[in-house]
Amino acid sequence: MCTQLPDHRAAAAFIQGMPKAELHVHLEGTLEPELRLELAARNGLELPYATADDLRSAYSFTDLTSFLAVYYEGISVLRGEQDFYDLAMAYFRKARSQNIVYAEVFFDPQAHTARGVPFATVMDGLRRAQAEAQTTLGLQSQLIMCFLRDQSPESAMATLEQSLPYRDAIVGVGLDSDERGNPPVKFREVFERARREGYRLTMHCDVDQHDAVAHIWQCLDEIGVERVDHGVNVLADAALVAEIKRRGLGLTVCPISNRYVAGGLKARQLRDLLEAGVRATVNSDDPAYFPGYLNENLMAVQGAAALTRDELLELTRNAFRISWAPPEDRDRYLDALEEYAAHGPGAELAAATDTAPETAGRRASARRLRALARGRGRAATSDGAAART
Ligand code: ADE
Ligand code: ZN
Repeated sequence: MCTQLPDHRAAAAFIQGMPKAELHVHLEGTLEPELRLELAARNGLELPYATADDLRSAYSFTDLTSFLAVYYEGISVLRGEQDFYDLAMAYFRKARSQNIVYAEVFFDPQAHTARGVPFATVMDGLRRAQAEAQTTLGLQSQLIMCFLRDQSPESAMATLEQSLPYRDAIVGVGLDSDERGNPPVKFREVFERARREGYRLTMHCDVDQHDAVAHIWQCLDEIGVERVDHGVNVLADAALVAEIKRRGLGLTVCPISNRYVAGGLKARQLRDLLEAGVRATVNSDDPAYFPGYLNENLMAVQGAAALTRDELLELTRNAFRISWAPPEDRDRYLDALEEYAAHGPGAELAAATDTAPETAGRRASARRLRALARGRGRAATSDGAAART
């Protein structure tokens, strides 16, 4: 089905009204400058910026490494339980205002424990906010604990052990921070142990990183992840696309983040992933730094790639499908989404244009995919990784 939403306003209304899930958002990356200033004042810390706008205009990054320096500087105002509560609650309120009904949120315990903040302080604040968001906003959430890949495997293992008393409060583990020189296999034992402890597994493979394709293969073959965070570079390798499809793995794509650290939204690639049948989703990553929460990310790719109503629905179906929500909740969310598809804005249009011709963009995507499928295995990777035949 290829119903085009007639204009920007129609697309915005459709996206706003759609019940949605977010699976890739770093809570520390939702720290808006206003709250950062408030927490600095609460904790008696001096920031060299007087206003939120001063702070915003000081944010300057062009790649993952330069972004992470700004991100870790921001984190330093988070000290007490109330700070973590306020951080998470602000995100949950924003998420609910965008009609997100379910969120899996990353947090980076090592970025706090390394500064002397107890693991329990982080967990207490986040868990209190989750309970409050569930009761007062009707927003369901789960925590994913990320290890910092530019720290040692020993530090990650120690963090995993610290998390065990909170095993029931954390659904899975991930891997984030600076990817250069820090491949997935560096953390093989940590992830093996995490799996044994019952955690679900995901890992960042940031866009256009050195050895990007090889890192994604490691995630599959050496780690056994269920999802890849970002992962857009799979498109450089037809065999990898096929394997990801075969395993039903999900990709959590973050378009506005891509624009800031990888030079473009990768909207066309997102469409290619959808057309290849990969379970791709749209997410916000670090919305306080890459301005745009989930709806703005969906709007950005919709505008750039003229995504149809059904493609927007499919991205959202994928998010629920690959989520780690309990199956009965996941199915309830999917039912609500189908209800929206059938009766929400544009439903009559969708029924009427069911047989409309393909757009030029869709035809071009299909051509690229056919070309990709003709290519042999791993022969043409963007990062020069060795060919797999
Ligand atoms: N930590 C926070 N945001 C991140 C990102 N986009 N990639 C890697 N590590 C991160
Ligand atoms: Zn991320």
